[in-house]
Amino acid sequence: MQNTVIVAPATVQRRSTKEYQQLDAAHFLHPFTDTKALNAKGVRIITKAEGVYIWDSEGHKIFDAMSGLWCVNVGYGQQALIDAATRQMQELPFYNAFFQTSTVPAIELSALLAEVAPPGFKHVFYGSSGSESNDTVVRMVRRYWDLMGQPQRHTIIGRMNGYHGSTMAGASLGGMTYMHAQGGLPIPGVAHIEQPHYFLHGQGMTEDAFGLKAAGWLEEKILELGADKVAAFIAEPIQGAGGVIVPPKTYWPEIQRICDKYGILLVSDEVICGFGRTGNWFGCQTVGSRPDLMTFAKGVTSGYIPLGGVMVGERVAKVLIEQGADFNHGYTYSGHPVACAVAIANIKLIQKMRLVERVREDTGPYLAEQFQQLREHPLVGDVQTCGLMGAIQLVKDKATNARFSDAADIGMVCRGYCFDGGLIMRAVGDRMIIAPPMTMDHAQIDELMRLARKALDATLAEVRAKNLS
Ligand SMILES: Cc1ncc(COP(=O)(O)O)c(C=O)c1O
Repeated sequence: MQNTVIVAPATVQRRSTKEYQQLDAAHFLHPFTDTKALNAKGVRIITKAEGVYIWDSEGHKIFDAMSGLWCVNVGYGQQALIDAATRQMQELPFYNAFFQTSTVPAIELSALLAEVAPPGFKHVFYGSSGSESNDTVVRMVRRYWDLMGQPQRHTIIGRMNGYHGSTMAGASLGGMTYMHAQGGLPIPGVAHIEQPHYFLHGQGMTEDAFGLKAAGWLEEKILELGADKVAAFIAEPIQGAGGVIVPPKTYWPEIQRICDKYGILLVSDEVICGFGRTGNWFGCQTVGSRPDLMTFAKGVTSGYIPLGGVMVGERVAKVLIEQGADFNHGYTYSGHPVACAVAIANIKLIQKMRLVERVREDTGPYLAEQFQQLREHPLVGDVQTCGLMGAIQLVKDKATNARFSDAADIGMVCRGYCFDGGLIMRAVGDRMIIAPPMTMDHAQIDELMRLARKALDATLAEVRAKNLS
């Protein structure tokens, strides 16, 4: 296993934890958070990080099995990325791409992305986040069909429990009903189909049969809306925020066949799956789809600095470019030179360390093997992994796969024990999920499994003691 240079993190902590908590409560509104409840409890303050570990202001060392928020793919403290940002800030901290101008890092990164992307992706449009990039998708897809003389092709189909970000368009494309319930979403011209979640919707069928059935929901929706009205289908290759839901093998080839049959653009949201997480540069290569557009963010800079974008395949790029007219869309930070410089350093580091191959051939299979052993645990009804993403489905009764009630809040109980034991695993309902840094080695996977087992045992003890059901 090739080692990387890790810099020792320094801590800038001028106040006590209590004082920081009070200031946080007084001024900081956190995303997706009940502020009142958080303020009553007091926020946890993360002060430094190194490799796969983070530390809080009380000195607790915690194994970060979520890579921050699915993004710190190369782990914390990578000097090459820090140097790239420093150099670029000294040389040219900002210039825009609007005034018929470009910058060296933006050009170099665009060429590098074309090199690592699947064949046919030669162009990129930049934003600063996954959400922004999915807004770009909506504008670009509709512009494409306008230019094709089919402006009625307006509707984009997403999936229930899919996640595509939190802007108006991102949250609309996503299928999180609790997000739709706030702010009058989804926006017009978006429809949804059910997710390919075998554990929830496929019991009693073979996985293969369920995969075909779930893909068939797309065809049904297209026919319901009218094929000439549908612009695109957007989906994550493996649903991340929805609970690391790995679809059956038959699902994606059938989705591809349906998109091809009706001429519908396929958009692969690679914000989590991109840059090696599934064992290929992009998730579409793992599941075997051929998208027209790919959204990316997070792993492109390993989260060291915000950057996102859309990789534009030949079919769309050709039409956009040959039209010879403005695409009236863009952001101040499209192609930000510092973000692009960090992305170049990040991609080169992934290449140098052979992290994509390592996930595919070594750490991914090893994690899968270890995760399978969790199936024996009394609380575990199912496990799924793909590369370095994994999910543990908690159940009340293994024999019937009966689930806990919402009131038991079993995921949060387990998450609490993880945190207490020094492990960050995220809870999505009753699924415990991980997406650890791709630099992880076998010893760290073993450590992760030890911590996860300990948290599961503590959760089981609480279930029994409190009769949770
Ligand atoms: C698949 C996917 N798309 C889009 C987004 C939104 O990205 P951001 O939070 O950078 O806006 C996320 C965030 O988790 C995501 O998982």
